[in-house]
Amino acid sequence: MDAGLTVQPQGDGLVLRRMRLEDVEAAEQVSALAFDEHRQDGSPGRDAERRELWNVRTARAVQEDGPGCWVMERDGEVLGVATSIRRDTLWALSTWAVLPQWRGRGTGRPLLEASLSYASGTLRRMVSSSADPNAVRHYIRVGFDLHPQMTLHGQVDAVDLPRVDRVRDGHRSDLEWMTSLVRQARGAAHSASDHELLGAAGDLRVVDRAGRRGFAHLTHDGSIALLAASDRRTANDLFVDALVQRHGQPFTQSHVTGANQWALRTATAAGLQVSTQGYLGVAGLRPPQAYVHHGTLL
Ligand SMILES: CC(C)(COP(=O)(O)OP(=O)(O)OC[C@H]1O[C@@H](n2cnc3c(N)ncnc32)[C@H](O)[C@@H]1OP(=O)(O)O)[C@@H](O)C(=O)NCCC(=O)NCCS
Repeated sequence: MDAGLTVQPQGDGLVLRRMRLEDVEAAEQVSALAFDEHRQDGSPGRDAERRELWNVRTARAVQEDGPGCWVMERDGEVLGVATSIRRDTLWALSTWAVLPQWRGRGTGRPLLEASLSYASGTLRRMVSSSADPNAVRHYIRVGFDLHPQMTLHGQVDAVDLPRVDRVRDGHRSDLEWMTSLVRQARGAAHSASDHELLGAAGDLRVVDRAGRRGFAHLTHDGSIALLAASDRRTANDLFVDALVQRHGQPFTQSHVTGANQWALRTATAAGLQVSTQGYLGVAGLRPPQAYVHHGTLL
């Protein structure tokens, strides 16, 4: 497919075209509907704050990663969406969703292929996949290795957790080494505006000591949105720090993989339960160990 053509008729009245800013709200609704169905942990769907974050993040992707963002429409109605971003040598698929009544008839595949054309020339690929068997089959087909993701959830009992000190709030001046840490962990850094977006959504906690560095962007409910560290011990210190802040309160940590055994040990020591939820898909890299990926910025 030539993704340089920004409008591509598909037959059946369907039109595949580049996503525009004015599509963002409709795309959010398609994605919210699609993912509510596949939520396995019983958690409620996106609240107003999450919806707003999704919209801001997707609008930014349309502006900065336009060739990676596509919609399928019919008579002006958005039926499906795929958004993806490129950072250095890495391509990440952020969203791929089709309205339930339009699935299983060739709506999703061209969206994925169009987004994938934006991956051309990159060395690494990442996606945080739902458990949807259709999505899983397509991801395997296009060359992703799939690694189960786990969710850690329950009420935090921080009494038996080790004491960690020297974790402090992060600042703009930490950005340079944070960028290097991510590059070290997954072969490609995030952009400064990724960190800005994450910093606006929740606290930033960092460890910055001789030979040991790490950071954790937290969500508004205190779980880890993105973590990178020089080593597993530092990653774990940042996780303990996040848990301690939530002592006695409900907590849900997503996007933990088998490479993050440190998180499983700490979570169970804090009384949390482990369940599986979807997959981390990677190509050209292994699931990083001292790293917890972000769902859409990976
Ligand atoms: C994953 C998802 C986007 C796929 O969309 P979809 O529209 O069902 O995908 P397609 O119809 O293109 O492909 C599904 C299958 O339908 C079948 N199919 C039926 N009729 C078809 C037709 N006329 N043309 C092509 N394929 C058809 C094919 O078997 C096809 O698989 P194939 O391309 O390997 O042959 C959609 O199922 C979804 O929204 N899931 C929920 C959200 C989600 O989990 N997304 C994954 C993000 S991590």
